[in-house]
Amino acid sequence: MQKLKKHYQNQRVWVIGATDGIGKALTLKLDQLGAKLILSSRSKDKLDALAHSLSTQAETVAFDVSKYDEFLTAANEVLGKSVDRIIYLPAYYEPAIVEKISLENFQNTINTNLNAVFYLIDAVLPYLKNDKNCQLAITASVAGYIGLPKSQPYAASKAAVINLVESFKAENQNLNIKLINPSFVKTRLTDKNDFKMPALMTPEFAADKILNGLVSSSFEIHFTKKFTLVLKLIKILPYKIYFRLVKNIK
Ligand SMILES: NC(=O)c1ccc[n+]([C@@H]2O[C@H](COP(=O)([O-])OP(=O)(O)OC[C@H]3O[C@@H](n4cnc5c(N)ncnc54)[C@H](OP(=O)(O)O)[C@@H]3O)[C@@H](O)[C@H]2O)c1
Repeated sequence: MQKLKKHYQNQRVWVIGATDGIGKALTLKLDQLGAKLILSSRSKDKLDALAHSLSTQAETVAFDVSKYDEFLTAANEVLGKSVDRIIYLPAYYEPAIVEKISLENFQNTINTNLNAVFYLIDAVLPYLKNDKNCQLAITASVAGYIGLPKSQPYAASKAAVINLVESFKAENQNLNIKLINPSFVKTRLTDKNDFKMPALMTPEFAADKILNGLVSSSFEIHFTKKFTLVLKLIKILPYKIYFRLVKNIK
């Protein structure tokens, strides 16, 4: 942790999705590293409680990322002062099999997980072009690598986010853009899973991986490697072998 201090101390970092799970663990660690934080999520009460619990009082900006106007207003407020990093985490997750996806689940997932990332890019790109030192890190998921059973519509939304962030970086190679792809982390989100999750991590472990990844030269921050590398390998297999492998996943 201490060796990370030189990268984060006194940096102004905007954590979007700060009040739970990975975002909360990141917030607590960034506070220990001496960062000056701006915290966002929908819940004003949780944001205020978290901000007060930190060693340096954080700013809070409550908004819903799936609402375009709210996103623009929040970005204008935060980016009125200089920001060193923007770490983006919000997501909606209600796992289903393809034939049983409700309209509500589909719409919430696409609005929160995909549309909001387009809003994010639209809202912050002018700032990033003006301040090329500012980093934007967007969280997708290894669920977006391949179409596994019982993972929709979340997995499709995350595949789209990976694709979008790849295009965004390809078109803006002079900007500091990172893609974060975690595997299973124990949070309220994965508490919905009814299967044994391989290589399940704590949010604190995930936060350490992200904080190290953000100061590395890699575009993609993926962890835990023992799981992500297997998925990357499965991804390049012929479909015939892939479908045989996943046939018995229930
Ligand atoms: N947990 C995993 O195993 C795992 C694996 C791979 C990828 N990921 C990705 O990692 C990210 C964080 O996951 P997590 O498990 O830490 O999730 P989490 O525990 O549910 O936390 C999500 C955070 O985002 C905020 N949020 C959710 N919807 C929002 C909205 N519409 N507008 C503003 N803020 C919103 C939540 O606060 P409010 O609800 O108060 O707004 C909360 O602070 C997600 O992108 C997820 O897809 C997670």
